[in-house]
Amino acid sequence: MSEVTDIRLKKIADLKVPSPGFGGMSVSNAYGKADDEQSKELLRHAIKLGVTFWDSADIYGCGHNEKLLGSVLAEGDNRSKVFLATKFGFVFDEETGRGNDEVRGDREYIRQAIENSIRRLGTTPDLYYQHRVDPKTPVEETYSALEELRKEGKIKHIGISEPSVESLKRAAKVAKISALQVEYSPWTTDIERNGLLATARELGITIVAYSPLGRGFLTGRFKSPTEFEEGGVTPAQLCLAWVAAQGEDIIPIPGTKSIERLEDNWASREVKFTSEELKEIRDVIDGLNIAGERYPDFRMKHIGK
Ligand SMILES: NC(=O)c1ccc[n+]([C@@H]2O[C@H](COP(=O)([O-])OP(=O)(O)OC[C@H]3O[C@@H](n4cnc5c(N)ncnc54)[C@H](OP(=O)(O)O)[C@@H]3O)[C@@H](O)[C@H]2O)c1
Repeated sequence: MSEVTDIRLKKIADLKVPSPGFGGMSVSNAYGKADDEQSKELLRHAIKLGVTFWDSADIYGCGHNEKLLGSVLAEGDNRSKVFLATKFGFVFDEETGRGNDEVRGDREYIRQAIENSIRRLGTTPDLYYQHRVDPKTPVEETYSALEELRKEGKIKHIGISEPSVESLKRAAKVAKISALQVEYSPWTTDIERNGLLATARELGITIVAYSPLGRGFLTGRFKSPTEFEEGGVTPAQLCLAWVAAQGEDIIPIPGTKSIERLEDNWASREVKFTSEELKEIRDVIDGLNIAGERYPDFRMKHIGK
């Protein structure tokens, strides 16, 4: 792997976007209750800072997340400043806020899903991911339907999340895939071994690293600020800078409900590692004894399809 010289700007398709991005899930009650007015302030602050690679999904808060992000994007010229991603696939009822954990990727469903996302966002997304591959529908049907949406101008780029290597390769034969969203952090490095990272690189697809802070578990590694030298990095910054340093083509998208932590995460782009430090961190990671699955069974069953 070549050394990453600048972790602040990352390539996606023919564009450069600022890294880290912003994962929107937390502002729709994913990890405890969020307050909409505070979340809007957070989103406005993100734009001011330059955190403009945003990630949403229709299922986050069953439509709530897209509406919230859309309301801030509708203010002034905000929309033109943000590269906006959303996802479809988990079936839910927007009225009741309920989902039954079913995944759909058929053409008819995709056509409805994009119209609903555009309505809630008040704009067309720049990047549209299939959240989970639907084993009942041929990947070719899903990705040719997405390619149609792209040609019609309803989406600009196509993404895929948590597929198997085989599905990724099949999808890339019928559509231009710009992004692969997968869990990747110092404690979840599966993509380095299961073929997804190598396949994405062969196909020129950018990796969007979700839960780069290990869903917050990795941010408590150090118990006291006195354990750091003056001007030292925080555990969150260390995680994000490490993920970003794994390739020009890897963009971490941490989530937070707090302006203070947004700023903490954004400052990770200033962290520079020497090759000795990267090797030292890699040795620590290789020595970790991580056990267990990333999700409970009802969620794991949708991964790697
Ligand atoms: N494609 C998929 O299937 C998929 C799955 C999961 C997530 N995602 C995307 O990835 C994004 C990020 O993943 P995630 O939210 O699951 O996990 P994450 O970014 O690894 O961690 C988020 C947690 O870390 C805490 N945190 C954030 N910054 C911190 C800091 N500087 N110091 C200490 N704690 C900090 C947050 O708490 P506070 O809010 O209190 O700051 C929150 O509880 C999501 O928002 C979503 O957009 C995609």
